[in-house]
Amino acid sequence: MKIAVAGTGYVGLITGVCLAEMGYDVVCSDIREEKVLLLQSGCAPIFEPGLDSMLKRNLDAGRLLFTTDPELAYKNAELIFIAVGTPENPDGTANLDHVYEAAYTIGLCIDKDSIICTKSTVPVGTNERIKEIIRSVKPAHLEIQTVSTPEFLREGNAMYDFFYGDRIIIGTESEEAAKIVEQVFLPLKIPLIKTDTRSAEMIKYASNAFLATKISFINEIAAICDKVGANIEEVAFGIGKDRRIGPQFLQAGIGYGGSCFPKDTKALVQIAGNVEHQFELLEAVIKINIRQQLLAVQKAKELFGSLEGLRVAVLGLSFKPDTDDIREAASITILKALLAEGASVIAYDPVAISNARRVFGDEIEFTADIQTAISGAELSLIATEWDHIKYLPLEKYVQLMANPVIIDGRNCYSLKDVSKYPITYISIGRSALHPEQAQQHTRPGPNMKGRYDETITSILSD
Ligand code: UGA
Repeated sequence: MKIAVAGTGYVGLITGVCLAEMGYDVVCSDIREEKVLLLQSGCAPIFEPGLDSMLKRNLDAGRLLFTTDPELAYKNAELIFIAVGTPENPDGTANLDHVYEAAYTIGLCIDKDSIICTKSTVPVGTNERIKEIIRSVKPAHLEIQTVSTPEFLREGNAMYDFFYGDRIIIGTESEEAAKIVEQVFLPLKIPLIKTDTRSAEMIKYASNAFLATKISFINEIAAICDKVGANIEEVAFGIGKDRRIGPQFLQAGIGYGGSCFPKDTKALVQIAGNVEHQFELLEAVIKINIRQQLLAVQKAKELFGSLEGLRVAVLGLSFKPDTDDIREAASITILKALLAEGASVIAYDPVAISNARRVFGDEIEFTADIQTAISGAELSLIATEWDHIKYLPLEKYVQLMANPVIIDGRNCYSLKDVSKYPITYISIGRSALHPEQAQQHTRPGPNMKGRYDETITSILSD
């Protein structure tokens, strides 16, 4: 069976490479020539553990092709996955231009009956529109069916999630198409759920919205823990033991980021609004997350007074570990706020520096060496829980910082371990350690308060 994949972004590339690994003949198409050339040479344009070797193996085996030629991709294909981006419109709705362009091109190029599966995250009703577009341009004698197959893989764990995911959703009104898609994924032995198209589209948004809700919920509990002297880790462990709640996604911190939760939560609020339902719960989740992303800077201000001229090491730039993706990362919000406060910033990340440099240029210093970052820093602010950060011996902060202060936005260290060192340690939803040791920062400079407040207002209204 020949399978084609439209789009070599995160979802498209992982889908193409993993389907080839399963033994299928796969052609991935993308309109960006540069990217296709890179992929043809065996290099992945994204950092994803395990991707490079699987990509090379399947290219060498001749099961995987990359092309900018849509005819080469879609001719003779029985199954075509649409996996192009659905970025956010200024009003929060999902932009479907790329999806509809892909559908149109597929309609023009197919030369046999085919099944079109949509993996892109799309609002309810989009698959029906995809079917209409393809039908309006395809050769009249050909039959096509559409299937909604939403994707649930996590960046950084994408290959694992493809092969060991919790479920595969097959949403279609065509029993025949459902059977064929089922056969394709059957070897993975992942539970397959067959449903109607609209429910499948909704399952994707509802899943991401629920996970985001869990995160904002635990962050609210952490805020209260801070005030009443409880420990959020003990609380999360205690509630997570209830099987109805579950232990996952209860890690309090400086909020969720990435290319999915922020975008999909806003899109679902819009989808609800379009049918005159105000999704108040999800609106609150979004609002809490914005506040959470700014929490570390707020804590720094409480501790130091002014941040003007303060040497701050921001540890971690990617929106989570094991990825170089900085889209909607808490670190970006933090860096903007620190710069607005007049801090002097050095940022550490093992893989995301080039992406961050594109946003900040030389406004901040970058280093891929964590010890260089914290050397001489007056504050180390942890934004991402990379292993390189978690396993940095605490002595290093004592050796390399004159008066060590850590604001840990991801609760990387245990309070017991930190308490053995003369470190001022502020984390999320847990008691502060040695806050009295931090020195108020009274270096003279212009009063930045106005600028900071302006920046916060602009970040909040973005
Ligand atoms: C998320 C979903 O987990 C995937 O199932 C989905 O396929 C994907 O979006 C998508 O729609 O494409 P991803 O964005 O890769 O995956 O990242 P997650 O691991 O879900 O983390 C998202 C954010 O939540 C990160 O910033 C992470 O730091 C934060 N998070 C996660 C917390 O703050 N606390 C937690 O307990 C868990």
